[in-house]
Amino acid sequence: MRERGVVERENLSMAKVYWKRPLVITRGRGAILWDADGREYIDCTGNYGVAITGHSHPWVVEAIKAQAERLISCHGTFYHEVRSEFLGKLMALAPRGLDRAFLSNSGAEAVEFALKLARRSTGRTEIIAMMGAFHGKTMGALSATWNKKYRAPFQPLVPGFKHVPFGNIERVEKALSDGTAAVITEPIQGESGVNVPPDDFLPALRELCDERGVLLIVDEVQTGFGRTGKMFAVEHWGVVPDILCLAKAAASGLPMGVTMARGEVMSSLGMGEHSSTFGGGPVACAAASATIDVLLKEKLPERAARLGKLFMERLEGLREKHRIVRRTRGLGLMIGVELRFDILNILLGSLDRGVLILDAGRNVMRFLPPLVIEEDQLDVVISVLDEVLGEEEVARLRR
Ligand SMILES: Cc1ncc(COP(=O)(O)O)c(C=O)c1O
Repeated sequence: MRERGVVERENLSMAKVYWKRPLVITRGRGAILWDADGREYIDCTGNYGVAITGHSHPWVVEAIKAQAERLISCHGTFYHEVRSEFLGKLMALAPRGLDRAFLSNSGAEAVEFALKLARRSTGRTEIIAMMGAFHGKTMGALSATWNKKYRAPFQPLVPGFKHVPFGNIERVEKALSDGTAAVITEPIQGESGVNVPPDDFLPALRELCDERGVLLIVDEVQTGFGRTGKMFAVEHWGVVPDILCLAKAAASGLPMGVTMARGEVMSSLGMGEHSSTFGGGPVACAAASATIDVLLKEKLPERAARLGKLFMERLEGLREKHRIVRRTRGLGLMIGVELRFDILNILLGSLDRGVLILDAGRNVMRFLPPLVIEEDQLDVVISVLDEVLGEEEVARLRR
């Protein structure tokens, strides 16, 4: 690796909270990333689902450059042309009735705002979240997150959170009380293994929340902006939440968190009860506005649906061929492949052959590629996986 100094400096200076891949990335275009030695990689991580329009899409780059030359910062207490343009485009796409938004800088922040809003709007404090949920790692979002590894070192967390099995409406119903403000769920759980709920779960949850006067918060931080083959994943089930969180892909890689809500819910917040210095800054808004243009012009949600189906069929072929593949699941270009054992060798073996894949738990490979990925690039991914899975099978037989 040519850029050894980069690795050493980061290892010396950064908080050791990330498992690092042995890779210095220097450049990206579409679904391709290049390392410091000029080697190419097909990026099936999409930088954790962020690079929805591909790395450095020319429209997004142009929008960022043009805005940076005019004005970089503009606090929410001032009006700004590009922010208002982005909000206009966002509202035209948003699920019906979600006509107000708060702009922040990350997924966790979008969730924090949603939780505060639910408490403020209902005057109640309890939140029901799902087992397996991931909503971020700030204290409020962490309280809704399930994984003990993330939670245990930071107890006590925010009180009032209960977790119930994902997809089980009876258990949600049992957990509700007079003190429940909201139920929060991802439409498809990302971090815990790309878990798609039973088809009737989200509609039943919507109905239950309506009956009991409880707010429904849907966390689309990972699923939003076309990833699953619809602009928002809730559209697969015809469900409109009261509050919707968006981040990751929102500005194609610039920090942007969005919490959308119905006007009457949002109006419960008083002046100064929430704010963010950087939230809704002009450069991020310019990138987000261009992201929406690309999504619509290049029909990326439709593309995700088509390519996702193709890719899934080919992955199913691998499952039939390799016994170590247990299951495939997902929607659009949000796909999980569960193996019968730890996936680390598969991730590293694929990286060696120029394919970057994410994990979702110990034994699930997660694919969140840019939606502009080409069919022949997906074919390369399949043949690399075929090779690496085959080698691992042989190695396991020998052990
Ligand atoms: C569903 C979901 N919510 C929230 C978050 C937290 O987002 P961030 O890392 O931007 O704080 C993530 C991040 O992976 C996520 O997948």
